[in-house]
Parts: sequence; structure tokens; C-alpha cells
Amino acid sequence: SGEHSHGTQAAQQAAEAIRARLGVQSPVAAIVLGSGLGGLADRAQGATRVPYAEIPGFHAPGVEGHRGELIRGMLGGREVLLLAGRFHMYEGHSAQVAAFPVRVVHALGAKVLFVSNAAGGINRAFPPGTLMMISDHLNLQFRNPLVGALEPGDIRFPDMSAPYAPRLQRLLEAAAVEGGLSLARGVYAGLLGPTYETPAEVRMLATLGADAVGMSTVPETIVARAIGMEVAGVSCITNPAAGISDAPLNHAEVMEEGRKAGDAFCGLVERFVAKL
Ligand code: 6GU
Repeated sequence: SGEHSHGTQAAQQAAEAIRARLGVQSPVAAIVLGSGLGGLADRAQGATRVPYAEIPGFHAPGVEGHRGELIRGMLGGREVLLLAGRFHMYEGHSAQVAAFPVRVVHALGAKVLFVSNAAGGINRAFPPGTLMMISDHLNLQFRNPLVGALEPGDIRFPDMSAPYAPRLQRLLEAAAVEGGLSLARGVYAGLLGPTYETPAEVRMLATLGADAVGMSTVPETIVARAIGMEVAGVSCITNPAAGISDAPLNHAEVMEEGRKAGDAFCGLVERFVAKL
């Protein structure tokens, strides 16, 4: 059936195909790079790469600014896997497909998942350029990658009382202090997209407790929890959400602001990884 084509067994097969090619040994973390945050891949030392098109079960990434490669390299002195490019549900991918790379990096040995994304700012204290540690999320995509027959190794009813590990949140905060970087903290609302929100929807999200809004990340975090990975995440606020400012939103602005925040983001992740 559909969901099994991106389940545990498919992930193990993809991992086998990747392992020899990339020389993966014992990665301390896998890092999902959000829009405009792909620059981290250029800081990885001794990098080896495999294009998504050559990984069974992966797809060609559709969106500009997502390059579509899995990279193994050293960051902050530790071995990491970088996922440069995601499968978004707004492209028509199922939640299972969106989260499949998480199953693959887990099969490659990663026990920590670091998710990043570009997001709109709802909290008025979070202007463009803000790095926001994700303390919790709202699943407003109304899809769940765990729907269907239980996958081998999955928890049927995963606890979501601490989806973003408090231990990793403390490490991230310590990494920010050390690097002299300011790090906000807030709730990420994951929506389906591809439209940005209306001002009324942004007021709704604010009422629900969201500080930032985006179109990704939630499926990956859910699967990571179901397979026992610890998750940490950072949103890069690239623009105020609709109605927070009067300006219309566009993808080019999102990409540009992501790149501007890139240096701080890279420094934060390197210091974080060094602490794992
Ligand atoms: Cl304002 N909304 C959503 N859904 N995703 C975004 C965004 C806004 N800004 C960057 N990504």
C-alpha cells in the first residue's frame, strides 16, 4: 500500500544505497536545511554528497532554493548528515513522503534530528532575521505521517508532550550564549500552504499561541518522535506574517532573508552540534 512505500523497510533500503557511497559511520545528528539556509552545507568539512534523484524513495525537490542532496560531512568537529531540500506537502507529497528522509537518516544511525525552516513572524517581537528556537508546534496541516498500518519500529501512539527535547533546547540556548547570538523561543504553526495566510488566519494563529508560521517541519518531527529520535529545531523568521506588516509576501524575500540570517544560523548549529 501507499504508506509502506515510504516506511521502515524502504528507509533501510535507501540507507543501504547511501551508506557505501557517502562513507557514513556514526553521525551524531541529521540536519534538515530550510529555505535559504542551505549555506550550512558549504561549511561541512570532508563533505560527500548524493543527489536525491539517486536515492530510492526520494523525489526531485520542486522549489527554488532547495538543492536536493544528502550530504555527509564534519561540522563543529562531529559527523553529521545534512538534508538539503525537502518534500513539501504543498507540492502534492503525502505526509509519509515529507517525513521519509527522517526514516532514512535514522537508518543511517542519526539519533538526533535538527529541523530548520524559513517562517513568517506572528509574534511582533520577532522581526525578520530573528532565529527562533522551536519550543513546540501546532499541527495545522491536518495530515499525519503515521496514519496507516504500524511501521516496524514505530510507536503506535507517540507521546508529544515534549516534541522538541528539553535537553536539546538547553544545548541550543547554551550554544547561542557562547556564540553571542540572540535566540528567541516560540511555537511554530505548520500549515499546508502553498498560499501564505490571510490576515484573519494570522490573527487566528496568534490566538492559538503561534509565534511563527510555515509549511514544513511538522511531519518530520512527528516521525522522528515515533521512531525515538530526539528533535531540536530553529525557525528563521524571514518576513512578518500577513497583517503583521502591510507588505505583500513573496518567495524571493523569504529566500533573501534566509540567506542574510545564514551566518548566525550556521554559527548556532555548529556550536550546537559540537555539544552533542
Ligand atoms: Cl508568512 N507563511 C507561511 N505559511 N510560510 C512562510 C511564511 C509565511 N514566511 C515564510 N514561510
